[in-house]
Amino acid sequence: MTEPPAPAADPVLAHHLPDAAAGPPRGRAAVIEGIGSYVPPGVVTNQDLEKRLDTSDEWIRTRTGIATRHMIDPGTATSDLAVEAGRRALTSAGDPRVDAVVLATTTPDQPCPATAPDVAARLGLAGVAAYDIAAVCSGFLYGLATASGLIAAGTAGRVLLIAADAFTTLIDPQDRGTAVIFADGAGAVVLRAGTADEPGALGPIVLGSDGTLSHLIEVPAGGSRQRSSGRAPEPGEEFFRMHGRDTYRHAVTHMLAASGEAVARAGWQLADVDRLAAHQANARILATVAERLGIPAERQLSNIERVGNTGGASIPLLLAQSAATGELAAGHRVLLTAFGGGLAWGATTLVWPEVKAL
Ligand code: UT7
Repeated sequence: MTEPPAPAADPVLAHHLPDAAAGPPRGRAAVIEGIGSYVPPGVVTNQDLEKRLDTSDEWIRTRTGIATRHMIDPGTATSDLAVEAGRRALTSAGDPRVDAVVLATTTPDQPCPATAPDVAARLGLAGVAAYDIAAVCSGFLYGLATASGLIAAGTAGRVLLIAADAFTTLIDPQDRGTAVIFADGAGAVVLRAGTADEPGALGPIVLGSDGTLSHLIEVPAGGSRQRSSGRAPEPGEEFFRMHGRDTYRHAVTHMLAASGEAVARAGWQLADVDRLAAHQANARILATVAERLGIPAERQLSNIERVGNTGGASIPLLLAQSAATGELAAGHRVLLTAFGGGLAWGATTLVWPEVKAL
């Protein structure tokens, strides 16, 4: 007689843990073929912030690792960043034809319609499938899973995945807890159908979420909950809020767990990882995650000092900039991991392909 399965103790874990025994996927895989990134020209230094906030260069550097960040000019929108990054990724891929454009963003140009169709049209891609996805700072990892799914199902042969955020448009400029951290930027990759054993092929993608902690990172107003209540937003409710210390703790826990799981499901050991590309949330979080995974500091990619926390754009921006400088090179075994609002997190692996990052 077959024993019934034991009830899972933790409902959150029970829902997100995949079947680890399933092993790496067989056959058709999504393969990175091109990569590009874009940051707006405006730079905000810690000294600029010192002038208008009760903060200091020393506090920001030691607590976050950030020295400068980029900020859009008035009138610029997320789509403008996305189009630039998307154009560069398509040029990097050497073939401007794709069947779908997926945009991961927390700062769409407007609530309706999605921003991706406009981005696609401006890239000369009107007619293809185009839609937004919302997974905050894990948007790129969730986007990789979405693009892989389109390719695996045969819905698309080539997908342009863009992650773009104009986070400074959500931040209360007077909130020193967030204004010193979050910034604007975009990164994009072109994925094509290929096989799981070629360079650039995405390994198994691990994703998870925990909505019981959604209040840790939120923008309370501006959605249906506030609108249907018939009341105007309270002052400050339309700004992004983050409980920094609690978020910090969960970021470390979930990036560690997701990373370990992604590496195991790829059939790798942690010692195999040549480069760690983690969401650039905070330099201290990155150092802790790398240390606890046993990945030496020189294998950890980082650009947070120059670009701050760019939300969903963080990982593709990091990959593109690191590939351009040579810190990330063809053949490197890369571990990607992200964490953010939702809460939502993810991780995956790939062998970096021969690709010119733009
Ligand atoms: O990207 C999505 C996921 N996001 C994250 O993973 C971010 C996670 N959290 C963090 O990165 C950190 O928690 C922060 C950088 C946001 C804050 O660093 P912390 O070391 O956790 O500081 P804290 O919030 O515990 O605050 C320590 C002190 C407080 O003062 P008291 O209460 O000790 O007197 C804050 O009021 O630092 C104060 N503080 C500041 N001081 C100067 C907070 N922000 C600032 C500031 N400048 N900008």
